[in-house]
Amino acid sequence: MNIDPTESIAWIKKRRSVFPKMFDANSSISEEEILKLLEAARWAPTHKLTQPWRFVVFMDKGMSALTVMQIELIQKSGNDGEAIQFKIAKLEQKAKQSCAIVAIVMQRDVEKRVPEWEEISAVACAVQNVALHASSLGLAGYWSTGTFTNHKEMREYLNLEGDDLHLGWFYLGRSEAIKEAKRVRRNTDEFVELRKD
Ligand SMILES: Cc1cc2nc3c(=O)[nH]c(=O)nc-3n(C[C@H](O)[C@H](O)[C@H](O)COP(=O)(O)O)c2cc1C
Repeated sequence: MNIDPTESIAWIKKRRSVFPKMFDANSSISEEEILKLLEAARWAPTHKLTQPWRFVVFMDKGMSALTVMQIELIQKSGNDGEAIQFKIAKLEQKAKQSCAIVAIVMQRDVEKRVPEWEEISAVACAVQNVALHASSLGLAGYWSTGTFTNHKEMREYLNLEGDDLHLGWFYLGRSEAIKEAKRVRRNTDEFVELRKD
């Protein structure tokens, strides 16, 4: 199969981070659709084929339980009352708008055959595969690193061990909103150095 280069770059440019406030709150995504989406991760590049990406999908009551747990962490975090209430309301709103919240995890290779940074990079490649596939499936979402990412209690909640890392959340929903890419993107000649002699 040959992919038209104009189409492939257009597809890459079409992927956007779509935030929960832009999701259609009354939509849903089935378990099958989520599994089909996450299948894209399988084809990410990975040194020594360690395939370190893991995803914990919170949906339905699982998502409500996660939100309750996150609220407890916020309440314990010791901010003043108003700041706590603001954070809680924001968190609840994000969950209400989302169809699922996916924890992004790097599971460290038992033998540590490759450095940690390579494993984190492989997970990021996997997430990009998922993000690109999402737009072709009519799904929307974004990678968030807020809300107690890799926090001690969150690690326990996600059953992480040893050198595993929690790398954030992928909020998933549906959205009819059309979002254009931010224009503040560097031109290619600003990030590529050509050495020809
Ligand atoms: C590793 C990673 C972490 C991110 N964390 C956040 C975050 O915590 N909050 C947020 O609003 N966006 C987060 N983003 C999404 C960026 O805001 C987004 O990619 C950027 O604004 C460019 O927009 P685009 O994805 O539509 O091109 C994250 C993206 C990556 C790759």
